Amino acid sequence: MSTSSNPSPAPEATTPGVIGVFDSGVGGLTVLRALQTQMPGTALHYVADTAHAPYGPRSADYITERSLRLAAYLQDQGASLLVVACNTATAHAIAALRQRWPDLPIVGTEPGIKPAVAASLARVNGSAGRGRIGVLATVATIASARYQDLVSRHAEGIEVFSQPCPGLVDLIERGQLDTPELHALLERLCQPLRDARVDTVLMGCTHYPLVQGPLQQALGPAVQLLNIETAVAQRAAALWSEQAKPLPTAHSLRLETTGDAAQFQRFVQQVLGWSSAQAAGIQV
Ligand code: DGL
Repeated sequence: MSTSSNPSPAPEATTPGVIGVFDSGVGGLTVLRALQTQMPGTALHYVADTAHAPYGPRSADYITERSLRLAAYLQDQGASLLVVACNTATAHAIAALRQRWPDLPIVGTEPGIKPAVAASLARVNGSAGRGRIGVLATVATIASARYQDLVSRHAEGIEVFSQPCPGLVDLIERGQLDTPELHALLERLCQPLRDARVDTVLMGCTHYPLVQGPLQQALGPAVQLLNIETAVAQRAAALWSEQAKPLPTAHSLRLETTGDAAQFQRFVQQVLGWSSAQAAGIQV
């Protein structure tokens, strides 16, 4: 056995660490916003796959293919932790991502059935009623085995009403965040949940918090509306702190899209209020 009286110190970081984040489009910006709040000063690199959005109507193979490409690109650009800021991509591709890069820390975004069940039970506690939660998500998320498994594992003793929302991401991507068309669609999508008398609704797609106000209006004030971004950012922060190189960097926010860069930049500046944000177009 060989020992050393002078053990070498832990390796020092020489390059700034970067967290890579992707989504089909603008939805993952809600996760990015939570990451910024949770981990100020951390270098973040966001890719919106706008040219291929929405993922909701796509096949599992297509979503997996896109996710693998985006993850490879982000790592080539220096990402040492990956946040899949998309429920649809997480549902279909996270297993393939983890299999391809077993040493890469990867944080997924999934409908928080467990916290929603707890919130619902807290709400109905003391009343004769049974917890009833609604989940709004894309067609592909609700159809996935991973989602069905989440529900069957965590929703015991509670009723879950899953509501697919075709068309909603398209409107949000087009910047329709408060138009008559958006309100009409939300009205139609929320009707079955109102009929089911849900007490709690979970936004199971990262785009939906961008229309949280109109959604709450369509569901009615008595329904509690939950999102998942803060939990995702907390998980990312925990994994990041375990890494060897969370050095601060001057260039802390890099925004890219596979679609129209000017349009994406306008969205970021106007909707998120990041007035000096710049975005570049890329092909992945
Ligand atoms: N924002 C994504 C999600 O969380 C994807 C929506 C889509 O592209 O259809 O599911």
